[in-house]
Formats: sequence, structure tokens, C-alpha cells
Amino acid sequence: MPLKALKKIREERVSLKKPKNKEERSAKNAENFLFIKQLVKNPKALGSIVPSSEALGKFISKQIDVNAEGCFVEVGAGTGALTHELLKAGVHPEKLFVVELEENLSAFLKKSLPPQVHVITGDASHLETLLPPHVLGHVEAIISGIPMMNLSVFEQLGIIRSCFSVMREGGSFLQFTYGPLSPLPAKKLGLAKKRMGHVFLNFPPATVWRYMKDEKEVAGLMQDAKAAGK
Ligand SMILES: C[S@@+](CC[C@H](N)C(=O)[O-])C[C@H]1O[C@@H](n2cnc3c(N)ncnc32)[C@H](O)[C@@H]1O
Repeated sequence: MPLKALKKIREERVSLKKPKNKEERSAKNAENFLFIKQLVKNPKALGSIVPSSEALGKFISKQIDVNAEGCFVEVGAGTGALTHELLKAGVHPEKLFVVELEENLSAFLKKSLPPQVHVITGDASHLETLLPPHVLGHVEAIISGIPMMNLSVFEQLGIIRSCFSVMREGGSFLQFTYGPLSPLPAKKLGLAKKRMGHVFLNFPPATVWRYMKDEKEVAGLMQDAKAAGK
């Protein structure tokens, strides 16, 4: 393994803190129990057996400008593993909108996150109606924990279309995945993609991708649709 990768693992390990006391331990156990309960209920939507690690949350937080003017949206927040890291990295709670499909999980998020964070129960493919009007067009970045690989292209398109419709021009969509390939068919969705890096200290190890609207791809898709008389 290259030296750079080893150094990165060591840095990440430092940040993988174990619960310090009894209270923290029982909170972590409650989080894991709820996660597994939801996994049994809806394995396709969960797509993982444990919440993301602190190391993955930290890595994702480094990919955004926490001081940017706009808001941040997290879709598929689960039990809030990434949310806590976004807050620790400096995202202002008032500017953070967290969208979770499962009611049990969003109830947990409402209880466990600072009250200023906006927790919304709903489907990420309806952000235009879920987010308050003043946020539309002012979203700096969207962080996604939704297991995209479990979805059809049609379902992925619904989420991507909705996410980019609320984003500011030039905003980006961050997605983690456990496989080696892009979890979204970028070209088909009119997106440009970039692999941002790997996080080894996660179970399973994860890769983070950034997607942006690719104007050239979108123009091409529109031309194709026009040629096909749609
Ligand atoms: C793998 S879990 C990730 C949880 C958390 N972000 C983490 O990294 O630990 C995926 C979450 O996405 C949620 N989800 C799946 N489809 C969704 C959708 N269309 N809209 C909003 N949330 C969704 C699931 O309910 C689940 O909580």
C-alpha cells in the first residue's frame, strides 16, 4: 500500500473515537439498534448494515465550503452519522436541511440533532415541495447517503432532477458508495462526475463522488429528445 494511503488511514484512525462513557455508549447502541431495525424493515432503502463512520463524515465535510453563503441539504440521513460531522465541521445548523424517508429515523433525528437543524420527513425526489421556498435555488451542496446502486435509473433520475432543481448554479451533489464504480450513470443523467477519494475506515470502505450538472451532456440529451420527437 502506498505511503500516502497508510498516512491517511492513520489520520482517519485518530478520528475514529470510541464512545467515551456509559451515556455515549448507550446512545451509540440505541442508534445501531434503530438502524438494524430499519434495515430489516426496508433493506433496499437502507443499503448498509451500520451507520457511516466518523471518518467518512469528516472526509465528506472536507469536500464542501462550510462558510459558503447558501444552504446545505443532506438526503438519506439515517441516524445522522454524517449530519453530526457536517455540524462539527462548521455547517451552521440553521442552514442545514436534513431529508429522511423513514419516519422512525426522522423522529430519531429530531430528538438527537440540535433544534436549529431542519429535519424533514420525505422523499428526496420531491425537494422542490419539501424545502421552504426561500431555500430553492440557494442550495450550495447536497450530501447523499441514499443507496443509489439499489435504485433503477428512473428512480435515480427522479432524485437527481429534484436535487439539481433546488441547487444554486454550480452546486454539487456528493455521494458515497461501497463499490469501485460511480454509483450513478453520470452521462445518462446529464452529469459530470469526479472521484474525490476513498475512506478506508468505514464499514465497508467507501468512495466519495462529486457530481455536477454537465451543461454539454444536458444539451446533448435535449437534442436527442428533440430528434426523437419527445
Ligand atoms: C445507507 S443509509 C445512510 C444513513 C446515513 N446517511 C449514514 O451514512 O449512516 C440510507 C438512508 O437513506 C434513506 N433513504 C432511502 N431512499 C430515500 C429517499 N428517496 N429519500 C430520502 N431518504 C431516503 C434511508 O431511509 C436510509 O436512512
